[in-house]
Order: sequence, then C-alpha cells, then structure tokens
Amino acid sequence: MSKHDLLPDISKPGKIGYSLPELDVPPSELPPENLLRKELELPEVSECELVRYFTALSKMNYGVDTGFYPLGSCTMKYNPKWHEDIPRLPGFASVHPLQPEETVQGALRLMFEVQEYLAEITGMDAVNVIPMAGAHGELASQLMMKAYHQERGDRDRRKVLLTDSSHGTNPATSSMCGFEIGIISTDSEGNVDMKSLNTLMNDKVAALTLTLPTTLGLFDPHITEISELVHERGGLLWCDGANLNSLIGYVKFGDLGFDCVTVNLHKTFSTPHGGGGPGAGPVCTKQKLVEFLPAPLVTKECGRYKLVAPAKSIGRIGGFYGNFGVLAKAYAYIRSLGAEGLKQVAQDAVLNANYIKEKLKAHYHLPYDRTCMHEVVFSHKRQAAKGVHAMDIAKRLLDYGLHPSTVHFPLIVDGALMIEPTETESKATLDEFIQAMIEIAKEAETNPDILHSAPHNTPVRRLDSARAARQPDLRWEISETKIEQ
Ligand SMILES: Cc1ncc(COP(=O)(O)O)c(C=O)c1O
Repeated sequence: MSKHDLLPDISKPGKIGYSLPELDVPPSELPPENLLRKELELPEVSECELVRYFTALSKMNYGVDTGFYPLGSCTMKYNPKWHEDIPRLPGFASVHPLQPEETVQGALRLMFEVQEYLAEITGMDAVNVIPMAGAHGELASQLMMKAYHQERGDRDRRKVLLTDSSHGTNPATSSMCGFEIGIISTDSEGNVDMKSLNTLMNDKVAALTLTLPTTLGLFDPHITEISELVHERGGLLWCDGANLNSLIGYVKFGDLGFDCVTVNLHKTFSTPHGGGGPGAGPVCTKQKLVEFLPAPLVTKECGRYKLVAPAKSIGRIGGFYGNFGVLAKAYAYIRSLGAEGLKQVAQDAVLNANYIKEKLKAHYHLPYDRTCMHEVVFSHKRQAAKGVHAMDIAKRLLDYGLHPSTVHFPLIVDGALMIEPTETESKATLDEFIQAMIEIAKEAETNPDILHSAPHNTPVRRLDSARAARQPDLRWEISETKIEQ
C-alpha cells in the first residue's frame, strides 16, 4: 500500500500555497550550486489542500488523548496537560546546559528534590536521575554492580540471573555489560521457581535481576526469601521497577531487600511516551552502591546546589542533565498528587486491572488465576482452538475503535494478551473495552474469518509488522519512481 491509496495525489504543477507582495528589495543570492538539490521536487499545492492533508493525517493517529490505550507493560496513562507547562517555564526552557552552577540553582534544586522524592518512594539511600530510559537505567545499574564486585576483588562473578518472564531489555543489558546469563523458570503460580533459583544461585553470580510486580502482573510473595538467598551467596539484587505504578505509596523496594532499582518516570510519573521517547530511568540504590552511581549527582551544601561525581562513579552515561523536561514533569506529578494521591494511583491501577480480569476470565483463558497488580495477562488458548490467535484479537480491537493490548509478551504465556488499563480510566471506558473483548470472543466462535481479516475499518489493513518496523514509510514522496531511485 502506498500513501496514494490513503489520500489522492493533490500536487499539480502551477498550484501555489502562499501569496507574497511584489519584491521591493534586491533578491538575495541563492546558496552555492553544490548545495542546491535540483532533484528535490516539492509538492505544488494550495494552502487549503496542505492544511487538509496534514489534518487528515493527524486524524489517523491514535494516542492516549484520543482513546483507551491498554498496552500492557507500557503504562499508557493519561498525563495531565498542565505538567507540560512546567518544563516550558522560561527559567527552565531557556537554561543552557553549560551555564555555571550558580546561575542554574532552580534547575538543580528541582533535580535534587526529584532525587529525594524517589529515594523516599523506593526506600533507597541515593538516586541518580540522569539515565534517559528504563533500559538506560538498567545499563547504569549493571555497570555499577559490576564495578562493586570488581572493587571487592570478586572478579569471578560473571553471571547475572534473570527470570524467563523478563522484559527483553534485561538480558540485552546483561549481555552488553559482558555478563553471562542464567535463566530462572517461573513456577505454576507465576512466581520465581525457588528450586530453579537454588540450582542456579552460586558464588559466580553477580546479581539477580527481578521485575516486581512481574511482567505477568503478579506480586511474588517469595521476595524476602529470594533476597536472603541472593545475599547469603554474596550476590546483589536489582529490581526492574518499571511496574512501580501498582506499588507506589504502599511498598518500598528497599524494604523488600533490593540493593538497587530502576524506575521509569515516563510511565509512573506522567510523561507522554511511545515511539521511543522521551523518558527517564533513574537509578535508586542502597548505601553499598552509592559511590558507584553515575555522574553527576546533585548535592546540597550550605543551601547551595552542586553537581558532584561519586567517589568511584561509573562516570557519565549521558549528556549534561539527562532528560530534564521529564524530570520537571515528574516533579509536578509528585508535588501535585502528594503522598495520598500517589497511593490512590496504585489503588486505582490495581482495581482497574482486577475488574477487567474478573469480567473477562469467563471468556478468555487466564493462565494465573490470582489477584493481579497493575495488569492482567490472558492467553488466546480458547480462541486458538477455533484458529483465532492473539494477533487476530488485537487487530479486531482496532475495528471497535480501541487500541489493542500487548500481544505475545511475556513470552512464557503462549498467545499472551497483556492488558494494562492504568488508573486514569473510568469504569465506563473499562466496560466499553470489556464489551468489545466479549463480542470478539463470540465472533471467534461464530465467525472466525472476520477476525482473520481484521482490521476492516482502519485507513490501512493488516500490515506486515516486521516490514513496517524495519522499513517505516515516514516521508511524503512525489512519485513511486523517486522511491525506487
Ligand atoms: C518491565 C519493563 N522493563 C523495562 C522496560 C524498558 O523501559 P524503556 O522502554 O524505558 O527502556 C520496559 C518498557 O516497556 C518494561 O515494560
């Protein structure tokens, strides 16, 4: 499918999209010949056509501001609009990253206070807010844990253990840091299989990396036992805290025995994200890892804010002050909700996910039938018996005007449908989604073909998703011939 199937080719020679008065000054010289692109055929359209073209394109976009977005693991909550105003305040927006510290005290104070709030929320001793994504925070954490063992002369600890339900960034990060990987199984209840952990945990293990709540949307009740086992053998316990939304205000990672945690500000703390950014993945750590934190940290001495490098820092892992705008929005979010408001976030996120679980479990297979946290994971098992798979269900949701859930993740659930409603959705919206899912389950019984050929009502039909990711068509081109050239 080309863009010409979406919109007619509106460019015609001689059409013009502007009207300027007669030139009454000497024309300025064109840039040198070698800088002019003669082959660049710009579309010739009227202003009105141009505006309609882009407005039509913008209406094809779907986002959390247009509708329900239950993309499991991504926490696509609604983000209050006024938080966008905070990083735009002139005192923040006009700051240059190379300005002397004395002239950016306000920005440093904001960073310092975000560090303090996150330390309190996670139950850790110190926080670095520079990493610019969850995966970036994972990288910083694993480099710190490596440095910690090396500093102690414990150089044989070359292995990182992780669970088979981990997010893909976890093993990728361990690999990038030069660790071998050991994979722990999940038991029939959806928890860490303690037998598997006992077999793999030894004095060659640098760390166990665990997601809590897990990507199955479950809280692992063995966490204290796990923490004791890892620490007894000299290992460190790191948490992928991307799912903090369900624990915030109630549970502190530090109290559970974790040595270090990365949290995703763009998820829990209100930054519109998707398509790769923007984000922030602060690293929050217990005392034993503080001196290895990345630089810079913000400290406060005699009422002044300063940028410092911890004694044995792994060094800089990003430019300047990280994604400052995301930090400013997180600050606004924390300050505006307050302690009670943040607890309410967790309550409502968990309530919404459990509501969906209870309403849909009669229609979809629920591999782990227990109280869930922020998200619920179903499988396509019942529908697969009729030849309908997770992807067909996801594509059919588009016909109902809803964004699909995550599919095929976590990998340990065959045909996973991972639904994360978040706390910002009303009961009416949840009911609309539940109804659509029930209709789809009925269609799988009575008319599976309508699911195989879905979506039917969208500007483009089912795409080759691998090709769409590898060869995205993002530019307006005047002709197909040009594309081939
Ligand atoms: C559980 C989990 N861990 C890690 C990540 C990685 O975070 P980021 O996309 O910010 O790198 C994600 C992102 O979706 C996630 O869901």
